[in-house]
Amino acid sequence: MSSTLPVRPVLPADIMARKGGEPLVCLTAYTTPIARLVDPHCDVVLVGDSLGMVLHGLPSTLGVTMEMMILHGRSVMRGITKAMPVIDMPFGSYEESPQQAFRNASHLMAETGMPAVKLEGGVHMAETIAFLTARGVPVMAHIGLTPQSVNTLGGYKVVGRDAEAARVMVDAEAVEAAGAFSVVLEKTPEGLSSRITQTLRIPTIGIGAGVRCDGQILVIDDMLGLFTDFRPKFVKRYGNLGEAASEAIAGYAAEVRSRAFPGPEHAFPDELPKGQTP
Ligand code: KIV
Repeated sequence: MSSTLPVRPVLPADIMARKGGEPLVCLTAYTTPIARLVDPHCDVVLVGDSLGMVLHGLPSTLGVTMEMMILHGRSVMRGITKAMPVIDMPFGSYEESPQQAFRNASHLMAETGMPAVKLEGGVHMAETIAFLTARGVPVMAHIGLTPQSVNTLGGYKVVGRDAEAARVMVDAEAVEAAGAFSVVLEKTPEGLSSRITQTLRIPTIGIGAGVRCDGQILVIDDMLGLFTDFRPKFVKRYGNLGEAASEAIAGYAAEVRSRAFPGPEHAFPDELPKGQTP
């Protein structure tokens, strides 16, 4: 168990208060070093279950476990001082009943020190969101494309075009009424995202949902160019760290093979030059 659960400088109520103001900057992080890098720039740092794909090489988020989330949640908490951290509830940890959701949400919070959870689903998750929020678990909702339902949705498609738009709006209103403090809109068409943003009193955080949301989120490995297996249209690359890392590794391999590395400056002489202390 984490020994202390300190009160965070930014809490769900502060995120709610940002509705309609300066856009909320949100990114995922899964480890302490990356959390340290994103923390000064972000309002919200999400330990997303996307870690299953971008860190663990899984084909989808469905294989992510509570143990994986706890391990990465703890790691991220060691790197954050300013932003509000949120942790994803993995597939299978909350859908069965509100009681199951509370048991696992409180476990995630106690084990990591995270002050809020995120879960996927609209109307059908409203009862669970209400159950959690009434018992002290702040919930960020996630509607539109919900990757944990990829098999029933039939792929990572845009959700909310044409007749489907009304259903996504109902989902948005349901999670707000249930007490969610914010909602992620994933891959919803921009006009619909804008109407949802205007309708709700809680902030909308878009990923592939256009510019008129109250905030934006991206997967850190996508925007840094570290995860390159595939690239959704909504990902903008702000860096090419994968290429930079590949070049660095190739340089190291070549120098080891040619014995250019290690040089004398990286080695330890058998005898210290006079006057030099170890
Ligand atoms: O798992 C994740 O990283 C997410 C974001 C893409 C919103 O849910």
